[in-house]
Amino acid sequence: MFTSITLNGVSYAFGANTVLNQIDLHIDAGSVVALLGPSGCGKSTLLRLLAGLTHPAQGEIHFGDRLVAKAGWSLPPEARDIGMVFQDYALWPHMTVAQNVAFPLKMRNVRRQECDSRVAQALARVGLSDFADRKPAGLSGGQQQRVALARAIVAEPRVLLFDEPLSNLDSELRESLCQEMATLLRQLGTTAVYVTHDRREAEILADRIVHLSAGSVAADRLISSSGEFA
Ligand SMILES: Nc1ncnc2c1ncn2[C@@H]1O[C@H](COP(=O)(O)OP(=O)(O)OP(=O)(O)O)[C@@H](O)[C@H]1O
Ligand SMILES: [Mg+2]
Repeated sequence: MFTSITLNGVSYAFGANTVLNQIDLHIDAGSVVALLGPSGCGKSTLLRLLAGLTHPAQGEIHFGDRLVAKAGWSLPPEARDIGMVFQDYALWPHMTVAQNVAFPLKMRNVRRQECDSRVAQALARVGLSDFADRKPAGLSGGQQQRVALARAIVAEPRVLLFDEPLSNLDSELRESLCQEMATLLRQLGTTAVYVTHDRREAEILADRIVHLSAGSVAADRLISSSGEFA
């Protein structure tokens, strides 16, 4: 099942530089929230906290009822049941597309037969069924990001985390892949947090836009299905 996410008084600092300041945020199960804000405002840091790549200096993070982070402690990423997509694709170059996508299932010891069928299904969802045996180097940027997307969803995680996944692509591709991802996220119904500094991308993808500014929540708005502010 999908999960809600709750941050209570979450702060984070790099040395003397406070990057996130007492963030309180509740994200409903199954909703898609865009984190929007200028460069350096703390978007990636917040996402890394949700992923378990680092831990807060203060505050707590819950996924549903489960405590996943508190001051000085963090449940590791592999124990959180999450899928992640980053700006730079982060594919393994020596593995084929299918092997890259299968990786999260291997980590979960999913049986071979089920693994094969889930990989095929994930590749079909992102329109890459014919590319299973290619290596990432033989793919375009947009195709590589589709592989990363397939890898993020293949294990049907409870939470999906995106850090500017489209920002390395040209504007036309960005627009079309953004629309496709919006459709896919609706179909999956997974709770998702999507970091971007592109307001239009946020409006296409998200149910709700949370604006971060200098480490604090500056605004928090719901989006209607037509893409207009509700
Ligand atoms: N490893 C680090 N050491 C010290 N300071 C850091 C480190 N990583 C990030 N910062 C600082 O933390 C602040 C927030 O960084 P973060 O990467 O979360 O911003 P962001 O909103 O994701 O920006 P962008 O849109 O440019 O990706 C910035 O001021 C940045 O300089
Ligand atoms: Mg960032």
